[in-house]
Amino acid sequence: MRRTRGGKNRGRSKSRTVESRWTEVDRYFSEHLLGSDPILESALEASAKAELPPISVSPNQGKLLQMLAQIVDARSILEVGTLAGYSTIWLARGLRSGGHVVTLEVDSKHAEVAKGNFKRAGLQKVIELRLGNALETLPTLFAEGRAPFDLIFIDADKQNIPAYFEWALKLSHPGTLIVVDNVVRDGGVIDPDSTDPSIQGVRRFIEMLGTESRATGTAIQTVGIKGYDGFAIALVGDNDSQ
Ligand code: SAH
Ligand code: DHB
Ligand code: MG
Repeated sequence: MRRTRGGKNRGRSKSRTVESRWTEVDRYFSEHLLGSDPILESALEASAKAELPPISVSPNQGKLLQMLAQIVDARSILEVGTLAGYSTIWLARGLRSGGHVVTLEVDSKHAEVAKGNFKRAGLQKVIELRLGNALETLPTLFAEGRAPFDLIFIDADKQNIPAYFEWALKLSHPGTLIVVDNVVRDGGVIDPDSTDPSIQGVRRFIEMLGTESRATGTAIQTVGIKGYDGFAIALVGDNDSQ
């Protein structure tokens, strides 16, 4: 279920009131902590104009991605799921100078919108977009010896998160940070009988991460302009990183 993103719909039901408060708080933080950013704003405008779904990370989440890239001093970043490239631009801004982002997208319309956004952001030389199913482009990247990446953001179709996480581990080095978006889905993640392949994908991933000796991880629930969701973070270690 997709949540309403507008902030002015103070509904009668309790849950809608709470959601509008989440939205207002998100706006309050972004107003004070992020300021206005014409390049990122125009990226979202281009996305809306092309009628792409409004599911980019929020501004506050984007800033977190940028800061995580800065914290790991990222020279190479991999993203699975580009959409209009909004999160990609945030990630690229966290790169150390001379670094690069590879972003994977299956939909050619999304890729065209993203490329326009990268150009307007002056990042077309820093961001490489690979068009194709990530289940195919990930093995290609590996075969080409493009690994390892310092930061990997997984944000494509949710049913394939386990496969993307497996590839992310192969494309990592000790110290690589792997961030996975949308692991809460309105709380749906705790339903073992869910018939939703996205929920099942997230659940299999969480269970993999819990028993994975090459990485240690946690997951954080979030509320805000994207409703109730969350992200998982895994840190790749040498071995036995539990
Ligand atoms: N990271 C973006 C949002 C990505 S939305 C942001 O926050 O700004 C998810 C994207 O993953 C969509 O553009 C969708 O087309 C893409 N996608 C879905 N399945 C995919 C696949 N198998 N391989 C590559 N991309 C895929
Ligand atoms: C959806 C996908 C996302 O990556 C996201 O952040 C929010 C929603 C979706 O497919 O509904
Ligand atoms: Mg997402």
